[in-house]
Amino acid sequence: MPKTTTATLRAKKAEGTKVTMLTAYDFATAKLCDEAGIDVILVGDSLGMTILGYETTLPVTIDEMIHHTKAVVRATTDAMVIADMPFMSYQVSKKQAIENAGRFMKETGCHAVKLEGGVEMAKSAQKVAAAGIPVCGHIGLTPQSVHQFGGYKVQGREVEQARKLLNDAEALEEAGCFMIVLECVPAPLARMVTERVSAVTIGIGAGVRCDGQVQVISDILGMAGDRVPKHAKRYAEVGQAICTAVGQYKSDVESEAFPADANAFEMDEAVIAELRGEG
Ligand code: KIV
Repeated sequence: MPKTTTATLRAKKAEGTKVTMLTAYDFATAKLCDEAGIDVILVGDSLGMTILGYETTLPVTIDEMIHHTKAVVRATTDAMVIADMPFMSYQVSKKQAIENAGRFMKETGCHAVKLEGGVEMAKSAQKVAAAGIPVCGHIGLTPQSVHQFGGYKVQGREVEQARKLLNDAEALEEAGCFMIVLECVPAPLARMVTERVSAVTIGIGAGVRCDGQVQVISDILGMAGDRVPKHAKRYAEVGQAICTAVGQYKSDVESEAFPADANAFEMDEAVIAELRGEG
């Protein structure tokens, strides 16, 4: 499969072929996603919750994101890798946004960065894009603003909110974003955005009419506990499979069923006798 680029993704939108995107945060998982033919791997700051055990994405640092993004880039041959810029790594100033987006590109080898926010972040997005860095926008429910929203809630149900979302999408498009993530947005509104902008729209909880879809991999593999977010679908029970396998391993070790002779290394009888002083 040829390498996914911004041009490939724009062509997919033009043809009406769906874009597939998934989060991955480590070498092994990213390699599997790449082999499965996923177009875009997002090293999301959701890793704060799924990998690092934080309550929200807010504590995630740029160094943590860079560490994980490097592993994902090393694992991929065909997929585009997008790195999420964490909270307070781009909000302070346009200069800060360019410098940190540049760090991601230079230190990790990723192909694009993602930042949250609409109209209010458009100037920063524009500066980053003007520096030659592909930018993915993210509007609707933006988890870095969870405390401002008062929780993880659907965005854009009311007229004013919906108008703001349309303005946000247009501002990001004008800023040069090649892609826009729409998170937890009513499906008809996401469809309107998709029809209005030439940027590739990627939905998560935004209905089927987006140009593509993204999910948090732990949600679709059953590795995030029992709760399945409304926007997700479970394709496997990997968490349960790991628990069962680890339990079986524990029981085999305790009962000496493992390791078997086939898992052990032999030694010459003469050497053993010598060591025992019987030689
Ligand atoms: O951090 C993340 O995983 C994301 C996706 C939910 C889009 O931003």
